[in-house]
Amino acid sequence: MYEPSKTLASIGLALVTAAAWAQPRADEGKMEYDAHCAICHGATGSGNGEMRRWLTKAPSDLTTLSKRYGGAFPNQLVWEVIDGRTSLDLGLHGSREMPVWGQRYRQEAFAQAGTAAQPEWYVRNRIVALLDYLSRIQAK
Ligand code: HEC
Repeated sequence: MYEPSKTLASIGLALVTAAAWAQPRADEGKMEYDAHCAICHGATGSGNGEMRRWLTKAPSDLTTLSKRYGGAFPNQLVWEVIDGRTSLDLGLHGSREMPVWGQRYRQEAFAQAGTAAQPEWYVRNRIVALLDYLSRIQAK
């Protein structure tokens, strides 16, 4: 039997669900950047964060990555710099001032219940979110 009220209710539900899907997800890359990178690289990524004066090396301008690396956003290079665990600048007298985020995110994963089983997955998600954000703030 045809029941108009039930049909309308389910259409209404479908619309609400579609609207919820259309909402943008929280910008995880920007949140991570603001929380952990802006202190050195600056709020807009141009390299003039508050900690700059305490560092020997100036933090890079992260808005000119594409320009400086041949016009396309250098995903792999930026990934490796952020992760840092394969950096040749490490070691007792390494000259690297950029923190080794791969190590930190891995520790964070172990500190959080539920993600400890797959720490590398957690590390990867954080870096992917950052790459997404950084690729969006490139100077034209
Ligand atoms: C303690 C200060 C500091 C913090 C915090 C920091 N960086 Fe850096 N970063 C630097 C410095 C200094 C350099 C310059 C390279 C070096 O140290 O040899 C750099 C270099 C980089 C580079 C290489 C850019 C290029 O031109 O090749 C990238 C990419 C980068 N940082 C991304 C990030 C991201 C993303 C975060 C946050 C997760 C972050 N940095 C947090 C200090 C910092």
